[in-house]
Amino acid sequence: MSRLDAMRSTLEACGQSHLLQHIDGLSDIDRDALLKRLESLPFESLPAMIEQLVLAAPVAGGGDLHPAPCVCIKPEQACGSVDLIDAEDLRIRGEAMLEAGRVAAFTVAGGQGTRLGWNGPKGTFPASSVSGKPLFRLFAEQILAAERRWGRTIRWYIMTSESNDSQTRAFFLDNRCFGLDRRQIMMFPQGMMPAFDMKTGKILLERPGALVMSPDGHGGSFHALLVSGAIDHMEGRGTEAISYFQVDNPLAPVLDPVFLGLHADEAHSSGEFTSKMVSKAGPDEKVGVFGSIDGRLGVVEYTDLSKAEAQSTDESGRLRFAAGNVAMHIISTEFARRVATAGQDELPWHRAVKKVTHIDSRTGELITPGEPNAIKLERFVFDAMGIAAKPAILEVDRAEQFAPIKNATGTDSAESSKQMQSDLYGGWLEQAGVQVPRRGDGHIDAAIEISPLTAMSASDLEGVDLPSKIAKGDSFAC
Ligand code: UTP
Repeated sequence: MSRLDAMRSTLEACGQSHLLQHIDGLSDIDRDALLKRLESLPFESLPAMIEQLVLAAPVAGGGDLHPAPCVCIKPEQACGSVDLIDAEDLRIRGEAMLEAGRVAAFTVAGGQGTRLGWNGPKGTFPASSVSGKPLFRLFAEQILAAERRWGRTIRWYIMTSESNDSQTRAFFLDNRCFGLDRRQIMMFPQGMMPAFDMKTGKILLERPGALVMSPDGHGGSFHALLVSGAIDHMEGRGTEAISYFQVDNPLAPVLDPVFLGLHADEAHSSGEFTSKMVSKAGPDEKVGVFGSIDGRLGVVEYTDLSKAEAQSTDESGRLRFAAGNVAMHIISTEFARRVATAGQDELPWHRAVKKVTHIDSRTGELITPGEPNAIKLERFVFDAMGIAAKPAILEVDRAEQFAPIKNATGTDSAESSKQMQSDLYGGWLEQAGVQVPRRGDGHIDAAIEISPLTAMSASDLEGVDLPSKIAKGDSFAC
């Protein structure tokens, strides 16, 4: 049987034969590309996925949900069930891991960034508050600063997607890898999933020879780390822990010794999967929360938390489900390999209802829907928590570590992120004795930026040449 005939019968068997409707009109190259794409689809699981996730919406919740136990390092921190531990002990452990070269940085940058609407990979977005450094440069500077401090080459793994891989690579080359050695950076694209018509379950076509495809979620990292050879690469170089963070948070500490120390602390963690949380700003904040669901730790999306659960408080009046997920994790290489192989099927698919432009498979006519018409499926990295033996969650300060850029305006926009960056760095300057203007609401009334190459924390500003005062509305970068 020819390759085309084999595919024809596979598609017929699962009700997707429309995908070959236009094959006769395609060039040899396009026909080959279409067949390759179709051959990459998970046909064994596709019919069940369509039935259970596309045509029916799984009912959320219903499990036995409790707040997740968290570890705090400051008495004023306020997670549901508090275990207060000594940060200095953890820092020493984490620094030992960094000095021994056992940690790699890992950025997930394969998302589509639709909400931000930036024309290019999100990591190229100008994010810093004074000089507009792109996100990738900010992380590169943190890596350079960490290398200086801990005396080791730090490898940086970056997950891209088919749609932004070549642009991301070009950006790094055009910027001479921001001072890093090209050989310490490894980029690899993640997997892709097709979009389905939500009424019929049929895979949508973007044009006659191409399906509508999108990245398979940040949970696709495990598979992508494995098939790209990144896990082998890491293990061959002695990397035991992967410091995972998202591309859209300019304050994400690329390598945090205290966090690494918790990951390595047998009393709290099995050393497989460790996460960070910040206390939710209020019951309505749109952030997933850590919880124990039927005895397994995981993240409950804000849309799946009932109003009563979101608002419920403990005896001291604190929100019970307050542990907001900030998408920073330490994952052991061994665990990543295990999830990518044996555990892959345990990572559920999540459905997202979207408006997706496509062609009518019979007429070829372009259809731009006014209402959501399609389902996209994604895996989430934090679902791996449920597979880990004893995952730990560390509470950190939002103001120090979390200023995401998700939206073009308003909450979690470049504007709000820049204010948070100025607030943090302005506070550092104040600690160093500089007079910094504040508005009535307490926010810093100036744009302030401190490169990690100048200081990784407030105490590093000692000995740095600083002005005695910053004027209202001024910009200051160092
Ligand atoms: P988001 O969930 O914010 O999605 O990703 P997004 O695609 O960037 O933005 P929207 O929703 O289209 O506006 C959080 C992080 O996970 C990465 C993103 O690049 C970002 O760092 N991500 C997301 C991936 O690497 N792959 C994916 O498939 C999805």
